[in-house]
Amino acid sequence: MAGFWTDRTVIVTGGAGFLGSQVVAMLADRGCPRIVVPRSRDYDLTRADAIERLYAASRADMVIHLAAVVGGIGANRENPGSFFYQNLMMGTQLIEQARLHRIPKFVAIGTICAYPKFTPVPFHEDKLWDGYPEETNAPYGLAKKMMLVQAQAYRQQYGYNAIYLLPVNLYGPRDNFDPKRSHVIPALIRKFLEARDANTDHVDVWGTGKASREFLYVEDAARGILLAAERFNDPDPVNLGAGSEISIGDLATRIAKLTGYAGELRFNPNQPDGQPRRCLDVSRARERFGFTAEVPFETGLRKTIAWYESVRDTHPDGHVEA
Ligand SMILES: NC(=O)c1ccc[n+]([C@@H]2O[C@H](COP(=O)([O-])OP(=O)(O)OC[C@H]3O[C@@H](n4cnc5c(N)ncnc54)[C@H](OP(=O)(O)O)[C@@H]3O)[C@@H](O)[C@H]2O)c1
Repeated sequence: MAGFWTDRTVIVTGGAGFLGSQVVAMLADRGCPRIVVPRSRDYDLTRADAIERLYAASRADMVIHLAAVVGGIGANRENPGSFFYQNLMMGTQLIEQARLHRIPKFVAIGTICAYPKFTPVPFHEDKLWDGYPEETNAPYGLAKKMMLVQAQAYRQQYGYNAIYLLPVNLYGPRDNFDPKRSHVIPALIRKFLEARDANTDHVDVWGTGKASREFLYVEDAARGILLAAERFNDPDPVNLGAGSEISIGDLATRIAKLTGYAGELRFNPNQPDGQPRRCLDVSRARERFGFTAEVPFETGLRKTIAWYESVRDTHPDGHVEA
């Protein structure tokens, strides 16, 4: 939709983060003249007064809400309370204040962690309420899922245009490589590169290796979010994914090969697998706003590894400001 962004002011919460920096770069490419990125040091978005200050100052046409506290299984297990509270408070208050400030559209970014633990594969949006999420990520997933309830309730009562997207696990350059917070792909890339350089004969991999995951390259995710922001104005939740599944065992083998690590992989079943299987039905995103993932997995992995190799000497955790 050429010209859609050229006279808009868009607030991108979390716009300096992994996904957010891609969304901001893509908005700038599409000619958006005013992109507001509230940093947590200036605006603590868990607080209503900070949100009021942000909205009053920016007169936005749209909010794309990406700010969150996130992490892999380990971080979720250590911080279930703060992950729940901070994500819930941000979402609830940002949507309420957006309505009060008459910001025309709110794009809420949920998560695959909202799905029930044993959702039939591929996960269809109609199954979202058929059970409790996998325990390790339930507080995070449910806090974010409340934005779906709020978006639908506000549309019904106030006619407010809030939409809700559920991206699958993301990967790509500028991901978090801090072992305390990282998701599986950056965690494995870092482990294998370090093991390769140290000539270590084996690497421990969390879990049995049998759980499966789906991954979406971060640029594809950003493109999907902007397509939905431009074209989608309905109450239904929409998955954003690539529609393919890989076991953690196969993933680890593939990353070991791409990083040049030749030692043994030792799966550790004493560590949790997390949700047994994850793979999305991606037909709704294609039908409602024309999104399909484009970046092949191998290409995305190579780019991610190359990016991390280019920054890891100076930024081992991958925290490079955009
Ligand atoms: N990564 C994934 O695999 C994945 C998968 C599905 C969904 N998602 C969703 O996608 C979104 C982005 O995730 P990400 O991986 O890009 O996360 P990220 O890199 O950790 O970025 C999150 C950003 O949130 C901001 N933030 C956190 N707490 C805040 C607060 N109290 N006030 C203001 N800002 C705050 C931080 O801003 P500062 O830098 O200013 O501190 C940070 O840059 C999240 O909503 C996440 O739930 C991610």
